[in-house]
Amino acid sequence: MENKKIILITGSSGMVGGALLKALAAKGYKSRSLVRREPENADEFGWEPEKGELDPAALEDLYGVVHLAGENIAEGRWGQEKKKRIWTSREGPTALLATRCQELASPPKVFVSASATGFYGNRGEEQVDETSAAGEGYLADLCRAWERAADKAQGENTRVVKVRIGPVLSPSGGLLEKVLPIFRKGLGGKLGSGKQFMPWISEEDLVRVFLFVLETESLCGPINAVAPEPAINELFTKTLGALLHRPTIFPAPAFALRTAFGEMADEMLLGGAKVVPKVLLENGFTFQHTELEKGLRWALKNE
Ligand SMILES: NC(=O)c1ccc[n+]([C@@H]2O[C@H](COP(=O)([O-])OP(=O)(O)OC[C@H]3O[C@@H](n4cnc5c(N)ncnc54)[C@H](OP(=O)(O)O)[C@@H]3O)[C@@H](O)[C@H]2O)c1
Repeated sequence: MENKKIILITGSSGMVGGALLKALAAKGYKSRSLVRREPENADEFGWEPEKGELDPAALEDLYGVVHLAGENIAEGRWGQEKKKRIWTSREGPTALLATRCQELASPPKVFVSASATGFYGNRGEEQVDETSAAGEGYLADLCRAWERAADKAQGENTRVVKVRIGPVLSPSGGLLEKVLPIFRKGLGGKLGSGKQFMPWISEEDLVRVFLFVLETESLCGPINAVAPEPAINELFTKTLGALLHRPTIFPAPAFALRTAFGEMADEMLLGGAKVVPKVLLENGFTFQHTELEKGLRWALKNE
């Protein structure tokens, strides 16, 4: 099934990018990857995002772009250096790619950029959707700058979609890869009070969201990529423990998390927002995994 549409992907070696490449191939798209190392085949093109260099051949005859690249946000402790790398690997490179696309005589029809639910900051019990204002903190500021950079691709013939992704439940990395060893030892527990909201999405649904966004020509602007049933951290802890048949009686106190993770503890572990996927639901997207238990079961399917 060849649909001939060419999609350019950045960050294709990452967790989401790898899954998306497979899904695009299954749908008959032709994918190209923009890579930071030496290209190894005809579908790979080079870029040096932080030097502002990009092989123009990568941008010929594109139907769409899916921009996923950036320094991993959740890995390692946030110090000044790490925060700088997270920022400089996103704002400038996103603006570079978006501007180069916008300048083309024949620009892509759609420019899709990753963003994150960190856009909303720490919002307690408040429910937020795509019409809600940005929150406060490093991640919220980062997402705003990242999305503004993506908007540079906007043009008469190009729509820009910013996918605000929640923590992804995947069998091959991300959040679960980090917490599973702890939970398997029976040492898992709620983080802080456990009452903080923890948006989530299964990797399968996230990939389907990207395909939906590429194919639904009326969609533009921010889109929350989260399951429709938001969970609090305590529910996540109990559900994962139950699926693994392990106790979850050791809470991780806030002070210990702050010592171990620095500023990241407050923004990513102890804080969160009750994010709902208003735009996706209004546009008829159907989720495979709506409840946390289903999402976790899917991600743990090989356990
Ligand atoms: N996974 C999640 O839970 C989650 C949640 C919210 C938002 N997101 C966002 O969604 C996007 C994809 O997520 P992911 O989990 O697939 O990320 P990932 O596994 O960390 O992969 C990101 C990719 O970006 C490229 N990259 C890494 N460091 C870079 C740097 N310093 N400068 C430029 N490019 C760099 C790499 O690809 P190359 O080596 O091929 O260039 C890497 O494979 C990311 O922007 C992430 O922030 C993910």
